Amino acid sequence: MARRPGLTARLLMAQLLVVLAGLATLSVVAFTVGPPLLRGHLRSAVGAVTPHLSRHLEDAFLAAGGISLGIGIAAFLAAAVVAAVLLTRRLSRPIHDLADAADRVTAGDYTARLGPTRLGPEFETLTSAFNTMADALENTERTRRRLLGDVAHELRTPLATIEAYLEGLADGVRTLDAHTLDVLGAQTTRLHRLVEDISLVSRAEEHRLTLVRAVIPAARLADAAADAVRPGFQTKGVDLRVMVTPGTPAVDADRDRLVQVLVNLLTNALRHTPAGGTVTVAAEPARAGVVIRVADTGEGIAAEHLPHIFERFYRADTGRDREHGGSGIGLAVARALVHAHGGTVSASSEGPGRGAVFRISLPAASARPDLQGSNVGP
Ligand SMILES: Nc1ncnc2c1ncn2[C@@H]1O[C@H](COP(=O)(O)OP(=O)(O)OP(=O)(O)O)[C@@H](O)[C@H]1O
Ligand SMILES: [Mg+2]
Repeated sequence: MARRPGLTARLLMAQLLVVLAGLATLSVVAFTVGPPLLRGHLRSAVGAVTPHLSRHLEDAFLAAGGISLGIGIAAFLAAAVVAAVLLTRRLSRPIHDLADAADRVTAGDYTARLGPTRLGPEFETLTSAFNTMADALENTERTRRRLLGDVAHELRTPLATIEAYLEGLADGVRTLDAHTLDVLGAQTTRLHRLVEDISLVSRAEEHRLTLVRAVIPAARLADAAADAVRPGFQTKGVDLRVMVTPGTPAVDADRDRLVQVLVNLLTNALRHTPAGGTVTVAAEPARAGVVIRVADTGEGIAAEHLPHIFERFYRADTGRDREHGGSGIGLAVARALVHAHGGTVSASSEGPGRGAVFRISLPAASARPDLQGSNVGP
């Protein structure tokens, strides 16, 4: 491919074009208007002059005009070259910096950033757009690395348990009794749930999750979730209450997915509430639709953990929770599913020992005009 002219050459060519256009205009005007004007002035000043004198004077006028235009153009060209070189030097530095930074990012160094150029708003917009892009890439890369580390870590424990039991069986140290089968089954289920949950969060975040929506009263969601977890509450001795304010509207939702969200919140509440405590799932009307709250009287959540508990694999009390078998992904799943329904979920707690409240806000089904008159779901 033919090499395109550089910035200096292009600037020079542009200025040369302006100079040539100016020169042509000046010449045409000066040499067509000048001589008749000179003749007129001469006639009114000294009367009739000999043709010889008149030609002499016109030659002098044209020579003077030509010389001044020539000198003017030489000065203009010199100034144009200096301006083009200086401007190119000033512009090429930030352009090379940008190319270098882009090369670094391409090579995987997401810390590359551009400094201020002091070249005006256009360049500032460019550098700030680049820096924002690099920030986003750095963030994504950090999350990706952490996620890979966390996934590997979460897989390691159940795999190690399964491996140890299988080795015990092979060596004859263990027998294939009910306990061994229980352990192997539980660890396999844990691995299966982990894989399912990770895939669910990814699909929801990439908007690839298919929701089977129907208009369903919020009370039915609360009841279905409470029914699913009730045996666990009875075993542990924690009171489970369902409270639905009359007039709570229906939501347009994938029933199974939202029940899954509530089950995740209720399972957490049960895990963190000691025997004798109470967990309440309440549904009530709100300005923008429906609010479903899951409140417990348990351990509570310290303020420093609250902003992070919805992150994948985040556990407030790592040692204790791992013992309980939690992977720290339940709330990430809940948040992804609620967002997929156009809602929000938040957590609050007055501190350790003072219980926790999770609040899901969903648009009411009637808030979506396209769903007016749809069938009410099961
Ligand atoms: N009701 C609650 N009371 C106190 N702490 C809670 C409550 N719900 C969640 N947490 C804290 O938030 C963390 C994240 O919860 P999440 O449901 O995402 O993970 P998990 O329950 O530990 O594991 P998983 O849900 O994957 O089995 C928990 O580890 C716990 O520390
Ligand atoms: Mg959980």
